[in-house]
Amino acid sequence: MNSIRVHDRTFKPYLSKTEIDDLVNTIARRINKDFAGKELTVLVVLKGAFIFAADLVRRIDIPVTVEVLRASSYGSGMTSSGTVVVDDSLVDVGERHIMIIEDIIDTGTTLVQLIKQLGGMNPASVTVTALLSKPSKHHQELNVDYVGKEIPADFVVGYGMDYAGYGRNLDSIWVVSEDEE
Ligand code: PRP
Repeated sequence: MNSIRVHDRTFKPYLSKTEIDDLVNTIARRINKDFAGKELTVLVVLKGAFIFAADLVRRIDIPVTVEVLRASSYGSGMTSSGTVVVDDSLVDVGERHIMIIEDIIDTGTTLVQLIKQLGGMNPASVTVTALLSKPSKHHQELNVDYVGKEIPADFVVGYGMDYAGYGRNLDSIWVVSEDEE
């Protein structure tokens, strides 16, 4: 398929199922090696990360527990609103090795706010995994430990990521068509 419609926009192929699979495998291999002999608590940042996290945790072979929390910055548009709402359901992560799982890091606002919140809970460590990251859009220097792929400032959808709430169910990743940006 050369293009698809999601809500009111056209998107072109960006990353295939196989390419995504390779990225997830590479990240999982690194995590298993780096955390060998330890236990990990992954913190899945909803909604976008739910599919990436589901694939990633099934490839992690050390003891792992899963927590989820809801954060939202995009609203219904294609640019980050700059205001991040992190819900207050965050469990106590004290003494644990925490790994934040994100589908995509755009401005970094969500991540910075979350790390700040976690810091007050005294975790053993905090690491960050993101399938995609847009370094050119980061508002500040970010330490992202595991990144599947760094991408330009393109708006992408699929594999958990949405446009106006739609497209999360796509099993590959698509980029908004240039004539519509
Ligand atoms: C997206 C994405 C990240 C965040 C990244 O979530 O899943 O959590 O934005 O943007 P930032 O680096 O500029 O903060 P979104 O706010 O769209 O909510 P969603 O996951 O429910 O789609």
